[in-house]
Amino acid sequence: MSDTSQVAIITGGASGLGQAVALKLADQGNQIVLVDINEDTGQATRTQLEKLGVEVLFVHADVSRAADVKRYVDTTVEHFGRIDLFFNNAGISGPGTPFVDNSIEQIDEVLNINLRGALYGLKYVLEVMLKQGAGTIVNMASSAGLVGIEGVGTYSATKHGMAGITKTIAVENAKQGIRINAVAPGATETPLIKAYRQAHPDIVARNEAAIPQQRFGSPEEVAELVAFLFSDAAPHINGTVIPIDGGFTAQ
Ligand SMILES: NC(=O)c1ccc[n+]([C@@H]2O[C@H](COP(=O)([O-])OP(=O)(O)OC[C@H]3O[C@@H](n4cnc5c(N)ncnc54)[C@H](O)[C@@H]3O)[C@@H](O)[C@H]2O)c1
Repeated sequence: MSDTSQVAIITGGASGLGQAVALKLADQGNQIVLVDINEDTGQATRTQLEKLGVEVLFVHADVSRAADVKRYVDTTVEHFGRIDLFFNNAGISGPGTPFVDNSIEQIDEVLNINLRGALYGLKYVLEVMLKQGAGTIVNMASSAGLVGIEGVGTYSATKHGMAGITKTIAVENAKQGIRINAVAPGATETPLIKAYRQAHPDIVARNEAAIPQQRFGSPEEVAELVAFLFSDAAPHINGTVIPIDGGFTAQ
C-alpha cells in the first residue's frame, strides 16, 4: 500500500472474506466502499470499520443487477472522485449437490451472482480506472476455479470463469497502468464454515484431512494475500490466479 490513503470498493464486504479484507484495508488507512445485499450486516460492518478512523460508505446493492453495479460505481466516484482498489468478491456457493441434480433456477442464480455480477463490476470499474490511468483489481476465484471438486458444478464453472477473465483483462489493460490478479482460496473458516463444523464435525474433519496442511485457511490469511496484491510491493504481479489452500490444489 502506498503512503497515501486509497479508495477501495469491496463487494460482499459485509461478511467472511470480504469483511476480513475490508478490515485489513481500513486498518491500513484506506477509505472503504462496502457493497452488499445484506443491509443489516453491511451497516454493522460500516460501524466497525469507522472505529478504525477511515471514511466508509455502505451501498446496498445486488451485484447480479447491472443497474445496481453501475450505482455502486457511480456512488463511489461521486463521493470519493476515484477508485483505486477493487476487490470483486461477492459470491454464493450454490446447492452442493451433483451438477445433474441442479435446477435451472439454481444454475442461473449462481451464474448471475458469481459470474455476471463480477463481470458487470469489472466493466464499470475498469471504465473509471482507465480514465484515471491507474488502478488495481483482485478477483475472487477458488480452488474450485482450478480443479474439479464434487458437488460444486455451477460454482466451479463461475470460478474457472473468474480465472479466465482475470488473465484476459490483465493482458488487455496492462499498458494502461491497471493490474489485475485473482486469489483462489481453499476452504476458509468463514462464519458459514464455522456453523457447518458444529453441525457436521465428521464431514469437516474429512475435508480437512484432504488438505496437505490438514486445516482450513482463515479469512485473515486471505486478507493478507489480497492486501499484498493491492500493494506497491507487488508491482510486477499481473494476470495471476494465486492458490491459498494449504497445498490442496498442488496434489
Ligand atoms: N469461504 C470459503 O471457503 C471460500 C473459498 C474460496 C472462495 N470463496 C469465495 O469468497 C467469496 C466470499 O465468500 P465468503 O466465504 O466470505 O462468504 P460469506 O457468505 O461469508 O460472504 C459473502 C457476502 O456476499 C454477499 N452477497 C451474496 N450475494 C450477493 C449479491 N447478489 N449482491 C451483493 N452481495 C451479495 C453476502 O450477503 C455476504 O455478505 C465468494 O465469492 C466465495 O465463492 C470462499
